[in-house]
Amino acid sequence: MLASGRGSNFAAIAAAVERGDLPARIACVISDVAGAPVLGLARERGIPALHVDPSAYLGPDGRRSRLAFERAVVAELRGRGVELVVLAGFMRLLGAALLDAYPWRVVNIHPSLLPAFPGLDAQRQALEHGVKVAGCTVHFVDRGVDSGPIIAQRAVPVREDDTVESLSARILEQEHDVYWRAIRWLAEGRVTIDGRRVRISS
Ligand code: GRF
Repeated sequence: MLASGRGSNFAAIAAAVERGDLPARIACVISDVAGAPVLGLARERGIPALHVDPSAYLGPDGRRSRLAFERAVVAELRGRGVELVVLAGFMRLLGAALLDAYPWRVVNIHPSLLPAFPGLDAQRQALEHGVKVAGCTVHFVDRGVDSGPIIAQRAVPVREDDTVESLSARILEQEHDVYWRAIRWLAEGRVTIDGRRVRISS
């Protein structure tokens, strides 16, 4: 799992594994942020938690290299037998090194009904646009921003008095329920990609 921050999606997935609802093992949590709370949450559960520092990886020109950073992440993932890379609040765009190492094996959750409101601050974008229904999306990761094929979505009605905080909290409740279920479909081998359409067999 790759995460940069708070770690509530990590915690919800870990809880599903602990309950026996998700037949998977969280091999490790890798964060690009040294003090990310998610690392502490993982260690509390006995899950290996690593900080991989993007600023420590330089290219031949002496500048920061995403390629070198991702190669280091891939080495950790492969070394731990990772089969599926789950992004949970990982605040970096992924490039070829990681995506080619795990073709269609990287998934993300985004707090909007994609393709509406990709990128940062999705809940604020939705409120400011005035939509009546917001939500969240689990999707495969491709080279774009929140643009890969959609695996699952949950709708969340917008209330008259919603703020970014109140809407985000209700979306987050749905994130915590939908993400582990989508990962279970993947673990069970029920997910196929057909162009932009993702089919879930029963
Ligand atoms: C969530 O809103 C998720 O949709 C987005 O980043 C946030 C991560 O929250 N990709 P958390 O770290 O899982 O609590």
